[in-house]
Amino acid sequence: MICLVLSGSTIEENISQFKRNREYVDLVELRIDLLHESSRSLASKFPDMVDLPVILTCRRQSDGGKYVGSEKSRGALLESCLDGNFAYVDIEDDVKRSAAELKARERKVRIIRSRHDFTGMPSDIFHRISKIAAKGDIPKMAVTPQSVLDLITLFRVKTELAAVGEKIVLGMGDFGFPSRILYKRVGSMLTYCADTPVAPGQISAQKMKELYRADTVDDRTHIFGVIGNPVLHSFSPEIQNPGFKGINFNAIYVPFHVDSVRSFFILAEMIKISGVSVTVPHKQNVLPYLGKITREVKQIGSCNTVVRAKNLWMGTNTDYYGFVDPLLVEIDNKNIQSALVIGAGGAARSVVWALRNHGCKVTIINRNLDRARNLALETMAAFDSLDNATKYEHVDLIVQTTSVGMVPDSDNDPIPDFKFNKQQTVYELVYRPKYTKMLARARESGCKLLFGIDMLIRQGKLQFESFTGYHYPKRLEQTLHLEED
Ligand code: ATR
Repeated sequence: MICLVLSGSTIEENISQFKRNREYVDLVELRIDLLHESSRSLASKFPDMVDLPVILTCRRQSDGGKYVGSEKSRGALLESCLDGNFAYVDIEDDVKRSAAELKARERKVRIIRSRHDFTGMPSDIFHRISKIAAKGDIPKMAVTPQSVLDLITLFRVKTELAAVGEKIVLGMGDFGFPSRILYKRVGSMLTYCADTPVAPGQISAQKMKELYRADTVDDRTHIFGVIGNPVLHSFSPEIQNPGFKGINFNAIYVPFHVDSVRSFFILAEMIKISGVSVTVPHKQNVLPYLGKITREVKQIGSCNTVVRAKNLWMGTNTDYYGFVDPLLVEIDNKNIQSALVIGAGGAARSVVWALRNHGCKVTIINRNLDRARNLALETMAAFDSLDNATKYEHVDLIVQTTSVGMVPDSDNDPIPDFKFNKQQTVYELVYRPKYTKMLARARESGCKLLFGIDMLIRQGKLQFESFTGYHYPKRLEQTLHLEED
């Protein structure tokens, strides 16, 4: 079930949140601690105003809520609200024999016994779940994994506590995020969503239902994902998930915030992950776990796509092809023979190797000259300092691989004095904003432009092919653009 947490401060606001989200959710949670005091007396009427089951909750501050009164007054408020037709009431697991509990039992309102941990995981989490369940209540553990290993513990709940039918288990924060999406694989009966997040990691109900289709996950669903650190703002779920839906492939693609690649591969075996995209800083870290790699991965020393092949993990690099594809015609007909690559980091490695493999003459310019030299020696390219950019104004192709110009640094240009000419192709890897300061100058000079967002989409489409064995659905391609420019 997808549960909408109503975060409004009035009943009217909550009704409009409910209406906006009605089609995406199966039940709602009324948070009376978030209501203005004047609206709290109306809470008992709320369940009759909506056509879904409602959870009644009054969260105190120590559990991430807004209720500031005494425990006695909180108990009295819950008790009076229970005159209404609530399906569930959430009572924290340390609140003993309250009047609200008695009234809930009398009125046959199911009790959710919750525990919140915003800094870690209770060491006895499995025991707590079984103990609450033994009393006939629904255990709820909202905890904060601090590592992939903690996330593994959450995913173990499903098998270890298979006997507990109804339970709510969720990981908050970055490490916990996959447990919100894959709630069925954690064994949780529901996942919480909100228009305005009221707990770390909550997303909108629409995203949960339409992008992730979290409620359709079953035992046969293939799990894919992206691993990185940070990773939660990755655009890749917006490429892969609609693609799966477009070809009716029973699969889901989830961002995994990963501290240790080693732990991640343990998780991947445990929950049978079928493949992942790999992003910064793990593109090199995954190499020791790969049983098979392509020529590009070996050459570049960097892998951005991992798929499960029979008994091993296979690594490919779709950045390489996503980058070079739109240049091949121009390289073939000799319109592009020389290139200036700005930057000598991870992204530059794929770029320089791709250009060198296709016979381009490359000069790498970088702020740190040693890094430029090292990459140049390896790839048989030339190198120079970033300050000497204007010496290379005659090249056919300029590729910008650094983070200079990327939001929030969008006022900066890595080569402010460089004069472009209209014969040149200018390729910007940064995709937020679409027109960086440098690219806007190149546009004014009439250059041919290649955008970071298009490269991101190309490499994503290639990953989709590795993941599914099918082409990315053509009709979805035009929807894959960021809302800007
Ligand atoms: P990525 O994998 O995105 O390439 P990276 O490996 O950290 O990330 O490389 C970042 C690149 O951006 C490097 O070339 C870096 O230059 P240095 O090697 O001199 O650090 C470049 N870069 C980052 N910030 C920069 C800045 N403010 N000015 C110039 N170059 C910058």
